[in-house]
Amino acid sequence: MQHYLSIKDIDNIQEAIQSCIEIKQNPYANDKLGAHKTLGVIFLNPSLRTKISTIKAAQNIGLNVLPIDVNNGWALEFSEGVVMNTDKPEHIKEAAQVIASYCDIVAIRSFAKLNDKEQDYQEQIFSAFKKHTDCPIVNLESALRHPLQSLADILTIEEYKKPKKLKKPKVVLSWAPHVNPLPHAVANSFAEGMQLMDYEFVVTHPEGYELDSEFIGDAQVIYDQDEAFKDADFIYVKNWSSTKEYGKVINTDAKWMITQENLKNTPNAKVLHCLPVRRNLVIADDVLDSECSIVIEQAENRLYAAQYVLSELVKTLKLQMSKAPLLNEKVYADEVE
Ligand code: CP
Repeated sequence: MQHYLSIKDIDNIQEAIQSCIEIKQNPYANDKLGAHKTLGVIFLNPSLRTKISTIKAAQNIGLNVLPIDVNNGWALEFSEGVVMNTDKPEHIKEAAQVIASYCDIVAIRSFAKLNDKEQDYQEQIFSAFKKHTDCPIVNLESALRHPLQSLADILTIEEYKKPKKLKKPKVVLSWAPHVNPLPHAVANSFAEGMQLMDYEFVVTHPEGYELDSEFIGDAQVIYDQDEAFKDADFIYVKNWSSTKEYGKVINTDAKWMITQENLKNTPNAKVLHCLPVRRNLVIADDVLDSECSIVIEQAENRLYAAQYVLSELVKTLKLQMSKAPLLNEKVYADEVE
């Protein structure tokens, strides 16, 4: 693995799930794997789970963690060829290369701003690190994806699904109402992850909230939540803002909130949510406080997903280092001949 920007950066999802389970059973088995290597962590947006699970995962494999505090006035210029006479004192070209010179892996969170779809889709900071450095990059949630979340989501479903012989799991991604416009990254990444799995996958949301086909593939889209939930084994709940009117809230219908009443067609379904969740707006207390909710177990799995990804990136780094000739041997190779 060179970078972890999408769940599709995992070569073999079944092997990845097995590794996550082994890490969960014995999290300190490789506690020296990352010795003398440094993970730089950049959060341009708030986080509880991603920050703690990534740092803890890094510590479990012996990585040094370098939090890069950029929220107090780190204004970066991304445009090429501009006269930098505004309030942005540093260009991403230098910033990315300098950070990469101190770190072996860089993990970044940078949400969609939801004002301009084209600009969000450029994922500027991730593209800049890829373009200007050789550093492996981990996506801690970008405008489009949250792949550490989706790996933890799949791990959770695999742990709770019935034996394959009994039933192929039916998994439903359900939109739920929210007061604020939220990004699409979690829903996109979850749907993208479902494409890798042998599940029956259904998406349900009001009109105007259609996700890009790049993420949902050939999943069935059903606009009637009751119908979509029929015989579901897992209900993955998430709000996202409109895609038709990009970044806007165009529906606040409380009927879409997940309640025990909404789950009547699927009494045995397990309910997932990436958290944080607004109680009694997105999911009702009677669901979150019941046995059908597995949101805490899902959040715990963020740790093992992150530890798997960081371990794979460190292994790749070590492989590359063992193949790299010493610098001077390379430079003077012709003369030595
Ligand atoms: N699910 C998730 O990414 O949570 P945080 O925003 O707290 O990191």
